Amino acid sequence: MTDVGSDIESPPAVITIDGPSGTGKGTIARAICNWLGWHFLDSGALYRVLGLVVRRDRLDPGDEAKIGSIASKLDVSFVRMEEETKVYHDGVDCTLAIRTEECGITASRLAVFPAVRKALLRKQRAFRSSPGLVADGRDMGTVVFPDADLQIFMTANVDERARRRYNQLKKKGIYASLADLSKDIEERDERDATREQSPLKPSPTAVILDTTVMSIQEVTDKVKILVRNHGLT
Ligand code: DC
Repeated sequence: MTDVGSDIESPPAVITIDGPSGTGKGTIARAICNWLGWHFLDSGALYRVLGLVVRRDRLDPGDEAKIGSIASKLDVSFVRMEEETKVYHDGVDCTLAIRTEECGITASRLAVFPAVRKALLRKQRAFRSSPGLVADGRDMGTVVFPDADLQIFMTANVDERARRRYNQLKKKGIYASLADLSKDIEERDERDATREQSPLKPSPTAVILDTTVMSIQEVTDKVKILVRNHGLT
């Protein structure tokens, strides 16, 4: 009998970084991507673009069938720049527009719909290509890339996450109150973690990193060690 096993190419490597908003996963995912020279998937941006479309076109946010159909045709592209990744919808730059709190809240509401998650699943998996992918989101390790080579789940306490989010928005020229941000984050965590489809939770094999008292550099260094220990460099 011929051994065909050795002819089967293994899929490109994937590192997943999941966790609630404000844990620093986006910043770390980008730093690791730049370090490894891999591709980057900001899965939250896909949900946010959908949120933007629903808000802009004043669609009924409860119309799952319609929103699922829009999600399946969603034309989103990413262009990596030095400091940030530009996000385009139908060829129009929406990088800043999708970062508002309102857009994040709408994204989280639409993300509970199975039709939306199903439509975006294929799009997300299509990002997996050589030399490798770093994917950031809520269900990257549990649902989208359960066979990932390394899965990380980041956490941090709510006050610290609200403070980080505040500074992040301020840098972008978007102003919000710290108290409102804390409330929004808690509500969004609750919705993302308790939905039936792909809830926010660590996969059983994920490495849990509490970043509350860690600097960006410390977290980046820790993740680099994990990457090396998993033979991914
Ligand atoms: O990571 P973010 O804040 O940009 O994500 C916005 C919302 O999108 C988040 O509150 C829930 C949803 N989301 C999701 O359900 N699954 C993902 N993989 C990424 C984001």
